[in-house]
This record gives sequence, C-alpha cells and structure tokens, in this order.
Amino acid sequence: MNFKQMVGIEATKYIQNDMIVGLGTGSTAYYMVEEVGRKIKEEGLKITGVTTSKATEAQASALGIPLRSIDEVSHVDLTIDGADEIDKNFQGIKGGGAALLFEKIVATYSKEVIWIVDQSKMVNTLGAFPLPVEVIPYGSQQIFRILEKRGYQPQFRLKTDGSFLYTDSQNLIIDLAMETIANPEQLAEELTNMVGVVEHGLFLNMVHRVIIGSDSGLVTLENPKFL
Ligand code: 5RP
Repeated sequence: MNFKQMVGIEATKYIQNDMIVGLGTGSTAYYMVEEVGRKIKEEGLKITGVTTSKATEAQASALGIPLRSIDEVSHVDLTIDGADEIDKNFQGIKGGGAALLFEKIVATYSKEVIWIVDQSKMVNTLGAFPLPVEVIPYGSQQIFRILEKRGYQPQFRLKTDGSFLYTDSQNLIIDLAMETIANPEQLAEELTNMVGVVEHGLFLNMVHRVIIGSDSGLVTLENPKFL
C-alpha cells in the first residue's frame, strides 16, 4: 500500500453515519473516495457526498456514493482533501489538480476539514509549489501582465497538447512561481482584490487536521487554532 492509499483510508475513520462529507480531488483523495465507496457497499455506511470536481463526481457516482451539490445541503460535516503544500502554521496551497474553486467552496462550508498528504508536501514556507490562480478568460491577459510586472512569474496552465487548460467552471489557471511566499495573508488579499480573479489556491485558516504518510508511518497533526 502506498502513502496516498494509507492516508486516504485513515481519513475515512473520521466519517460517521449520516454525515455530509466533502469529497476532495486528486490522486490522494482518489483513495479516500474509493474507501468511502467500499465502506458503503461492504459495511453499510450511510453518508451523503458533496464532490469538489467533475472527476470526483464521476468516480463517486460510479461507486454508488449518494451525492448532493453544495447548494442542496445545509452544511458539510467533514471534508477530506489532498493538498500541494502545507506549512508549519497549517496554511496550504491547493489547486494542483485545477479544482481549487470548488474545493475552497466546499471547505468553506464544512464544519471540519482534513487534508491527506505524504511527507513531501510539508514545508517550512509556502511557495515552492506554483500558486494557482483561477481567472475568468475575459481580461486574463491583463491580469497576467500585472502579475508579471509584480515579479510573480505567471504561467497559464496548459494541457499536454499546448492548449489552455479550462477548469470545471470554464475558467483559466495562472500558476505563479513565487518560490517563497513570505506573507500568505497579504498575498491572498492582493489576489482576491484583482478584478477577474475568481479564486486563488491559498487555503488559509481552513484545515483542522492533517494526516501525513511517511516512511515512519502515519502522523496526524491537529491544528491548535481549532482545538
Ligand atoms: C486539486 C488539489 C489536490 O488536492 C492537490 O493538487 C493534491 O493532489 P495529489 O493528491 O494528486 O497530490 O488541490 O485541485
């Protein structure tokens, strides 16, 4: 069993009957969704899932997980998702799989958020992983120029055939090669205030618990902010 599978399975232990569960996106969340499907089928687990991307929706419905959209539920009890980077203050970067918008919406309306990662995602300072910014296509070249002038080394995210990658909401992603993000709050505010920016991949003050897979086994960290 690889680390992604280990943390994915471990996280499902926090799911209880009748919960509304946010189902994350990515290669780690994939294993969590598979395990939820197995528990429904083999153990009679009863939950409602709220997916964070079309990919997760397709996987979850193929597994027979009952689904509702975020607008059809009053709240989400628990969201389990992957992450691209997590710093020592439990701040994170997400969006490597281009699903940051729905992921942030579902996390925002969740009572609890768990991230599942391998040790390589734990960092001292955010920024080595390119920070995704989701922008509407109209005016995106203007945003790109501003980001370039600010020295953020923007790159439009492309598909393997060289064409623009469009998100599930038909937006574009601009990845910022920040290298080091000294003040995540300040950068988050700056990006949020740009006209045409729909959302950015800084997930600040959102995660309650992080489950990390490493050579020495599983480690679960609780965010003291929420204790
Ligand atoms: C998708 C995400 C993913 O959760 C993140 O990229 C981690 O993915 P993986 O588990 O495949 O490394 O934010 O938008």
